[in-house]
Amino acid sequence: MNATTNADAAARARAVIPGGVNSPVRAFGSVGGTPLSIVSARGPLVTDVTGREYVDLVASWGPALLGHAQPDVVAAVQAAAARGLSFGASTPGETDLAEHVIERLRVGGTAGIEKLRLVSTGTEATMTAIRIARGATGRDVIVKFAGHYHGHSDGLLAESGSGVATLGLPGSAGVPAAIAGLTLVLPYNDRDAVLAAFAAHPGRIAAIIAEAAGANAGVLAPDEGFNRFLIETAHAHGALFLLDEVLTGFRVGPAGWWGLEQAAGQSWVPDLVTFGKVIGGGMPLAAIGGRADLLDLLAPLGPVYQAGTLSGNPLAVAAGLATLRLADAEVYGRVDAAASVVSNALDDALTAEGVAHAVSWAGSLFSVAFREGAVRDYADARDQEAWRYPAFFHAMLDAGVSLPPSVFEAWFLTAAHDEAALGRILDALPAAARAAAAATPG
Ligand SMILES: Cc1ncc(COP(=O)(O)O)c(C=O)c1O
Repeated sequence: MNATTNADAAARARAVIPGGVNSPVRAFGSVGGTPLSIVSARGPLVTDVTGREYVDLVASWGPALLGHAQPDVVAAVQAAAARGLSFGASTPGETDLAEHVIERLRVGGTAGIEKLRLVSTGTEATMTAIRIARGATGRDVIVKFAGHYHGHSDGLLAESGSGVATLGLPGSAGVPAAIAGLTLVLPYNDRDAVLAAFAAHPGRIAAIIAEAAGANAGVLAPDEGFNRFLIETAHAHGALFLLDEVLTGFRVGPAGWWGLEQAAGQSWVPDLVTFGKVIGGGMPLAAIGGRADLLDLLAPLGPVYQAGTLSGNPLAVAAGLATLRLADAEVYGRVDAAASVVSNALDDALTAEGVAHAVSWAGSLFSVAFREGAVRDYADARDQEAWRYPAFFHAMLDAGVSLPPSVFEAWFLTAAHDEAALGRILDALPAAARAAAAATPG
């Protein structure tokens, strides 16, 4: 039977797929209502099973920097597909991509990374980065920050952002206590907590992992100098700093968040960096980059094992390379401009209705929190009138604008959000702000 409505599609899916979704936030759990079932997407628009188009501010949760189905990217994938889907052997394209990324991460004469290993998901990338850090240091303990999300590997789900935050979970069932106990979770932007952790666990911490700029509990920008403080503190105690740019990498600028900090005069080089999302241009691709001596610990050169049947898949590499080659200064300028138009209008609309709110920024990423006062850490992000978001979200959806279905997610603009798309968002905001104002708890 062909589904003709989103409700039909969701019902069919729920019968055979847990919750009807293959990733939890897609289920609309925190906003209620019927999740969209999408059949196609082009530029700034997605189309559901009923044929209705929405202006999309999810952008596949980040990858669609250029907009959906960008013709040159699609052509590159089609050409790669015609040559074969997967070989289980090295390809020249993988080297092209590694060279491109390493060159892109050269900012002001500083090499951000020296080598790159390709994997398929951000989860694999951060999991592997941690294994390298443990292999390099011979230590077990990892420091992460509350509200930061690094994928769904066992050791990284404690007080995690993204879907774990959306569902209000402290972590996940199925993670052995012995593994969870190796992760120290600290409040973000809290230097004293970092120093105290190293003092309390001398010689045991392998690495600090941090999102380059937090964007999975709403946007939590690092205080100025915080990332540099993290790497200096880690090094002072014989530990490494793993910079997670899965979400920010190639999205907030040509060399990611790290590149923005370099341009702002913060001079430091991460030990390891993880990439995902934009690097695959919408296909399953992610990567671990960093110092050559650390990357060379990976098999087959070194003792740290990592592998993947589909790692460096030729279609994914083609999509990623085509996307990155197109992602020039003009593209970032358009994304930045579109983000500031939308976030200003959001701010104005909520102010006009007297709704307490704070818009947080990190590059072109922004999110709204329904509270007075800036959001600096996960405790702030949770201390808000989150119950206003479902009404706001559904008013936008009714007007044909698809927002992330959780207040804890960033809004993603693309280079394809033209005047028409932006106009539709701006037109929808006043009624959504009225709905947020009229919302009641519970
Ligand atoms: C910062 C960060 N790290 C890691 C991940 C995990 O990536 P993936 O969903 O590709 O496994 C995400 C996903 O949202 C992320 O935002």
